[in-house]
Amino acid sequence: MSTFQPTPTKPWWASAVIYQIYPRSFADANGDGMGDLSGISGKLEYLAALGINAIWLSPFYLSPQADAGYDVADYRRVDPLFGDLQDFDEMLSKAHSLGLRVIVDLVPNHTSDEHAWFQEALASPSGSPARDRYMFRDGRGIDGVEPPNNWRSIFGGGAWTRVTENGVPGQWYLHLFDTKQPDLNWENPEVHAEMESVLRFWLDRGVDGFRVDVAHGMVKAAGLPDWEGQTAMVSGDETNTLASQSPAHQQKPAMDPPSPFFDQDGVHEIYRAWNRVLKEYDGDRMLVAEAWVEQPERLALYVRPDEMQQAFNFDFLLAGWDAQRMAAAVDNSLLANAAVGAPATWVLSNHDTVRHTSRFGLLDPTAFPKGISAEDEQPDEALGLARARAATLLMFALPGSAYVYQGEELGLPEHTTLEAAFRQDPSFFRTNGVERGRDGCRVPLPWKASEPGYGFSSGTPKEGGHAAPWLPQPPSFAHYAADTEAGVAGSTVELYRSALEVRAAHALGVGTHAWAPQHDPGAGVVAFSNGPITVLVNAGSVPLDLPPAAEVVLASTLDSVSQGKLAPNSAVWIAS
Ligand code: BGC
Repeated sequence: MSTFQPTPTKPWWASAVIYQIYPRSFADANGDGMGDLSGISGKLEYLAALGINAIWLSPFYLSPQADAGYDVADYRRVDPLFGDLQDFDEMLSKAHSLGLRVIVDLVPNHTSDEHAWFQEALASPSGSPARDRYMFRDGRGIDGVEPPNNWRSIFGGGAWTRVTENGVPGQWYLHLFDTKQPDLNWENPEVHAEMESVLRFWLDRGVDGFRVDVAHGMVKAAGLPDWEGQTAMVSGDETNTLASQSPAHQQKPAMDPPSPFFDQDGVHEIYRAWNRVLKEYDGDRMLVAEAWVEQPERLALYVRPDEMQQAFNFDFLLAGWDAQRMAAAVDNSLLANAAVGAPATWVLSNHDTVRHTSRFGLLDPTAFPKGISAEDEQPDEALGLARARAATLLMFALPGSAYVYQGEELGLPEHTTLEAAFRQDPSFFRTNGVERGRDGCRVPLPWKASEPGYGFSSGTPKEGGHAAPWLPQPPSFAHYAADTEAGVAGSTVELYRSALEVRAAHALGVGTHAWAPQHDPGAGVVAFSNGPITVLVNAGSVPLDLPPAAEVVLASTLDSVSQGKLAPNSAVWIAS
């Protein structure tokens, strides 16, 4: 029997609050220092009590872990690091019994080089069907010593690696990411058939949807033309990245010439086909696109009625703590989504970005560093947290679906002093440390302040105790441990719980956004109403007058409101 709340007019995902679990770092049930599926099962009650509606799991499939699981060696197997299929089924069924939907990650742009297909391709001659599943090409120049084109890897370095054939240098294969992540050839029908079969494998098990990795990347321009542009992961550079969609850049014309490997029109055919697969199943299954595209109107194409259901709103994530940029991101997203009849989505952090609590504490709170290390500017932790909590009240009051990255409900900062010796992100190594990488936002969660590893590991201790968490946690994590915040008035976790309760009670997720009279982004004020709630966000530097006799429903901190004024770096929900 279903325990899900009925959603009479809209499917569940249109307004869901979806919590991203990074399985390596969420909870470790077998004491080996690495998170696992049983660890997730053990914390589902916590998540249900938080008031979220769904979880999204980053990859837990068989993988050599060259990119923390985004390098899949077998799409139908669970990596022994995380457990097995039975653990997955138990987790799924428990989540469903608690009323939580489950979304899994799908990585269709590339496989691991240890995938059986790639191994077969390496053992097969050029021109063979096995090679045709990937992007193999002859090199340029004498004896093919030059790569087939000038594309760069998103993680740094070249995007091509040459293979050895019968002991001598042979063809090259494309990898937009790490050498160990060869790109699939989406011109090959076998690739389509296989990925649809993978979708069905997990749909048959009962998953509610998929987060589609690099959803704009699978189709490459015919002839693989050279391209002078630079592409990075989510970045603050003025290149062909997410940042170039941010409000500050929106008057900029689209890249000329556009990237030959991102956002090609051909990708939409793939999603139309997948939409048809999902339709065969009951229960409003969904797809959410991780697509880094230039213009909001281009992004909206991914969520046309016959394609995906959602796309991440990186424009909002990149706005930073800046009233004008936040307001513009809200306007642009609502407009672009409405044009195709799709609900908007909102997100502040994920496993690829510096946590927003830390970004918002930088001298420039719109900055978007590629990781932070001890040599870099260190964020003001308290200021960043205050702003992050205010941004949360802004986000949860918006109509549409909101994504929460694990630990943000505790107010967790980035680990900004992680030593190089512990870093694992391939982008750190491929850029010789110029990019600090994404490890700082992937540090294992603190559950219990007074336990070793802040209670990340539980279960039967191995001889000599639990293994250390796979990345070291900073000492400050003690203040943020879940057990120190639970039930404490004014803690971040209680703010999340209360906000989600009010959001649900007033169905804000399916509500209507309208700018309020106080809205004045130029003066640092973002203000809008959604049904019975009006949100005031003070991103300026002077206290803001609340309307006379305003009834405060929720404030971002216990001292945000005093004597009828809202302090800077704060937000408040008042009764409209
Ligand atoms: C994922 C990253 C991953 C990359 C390659 C991304 O967009 O979110 O974590 O490194 O795809 O799969």
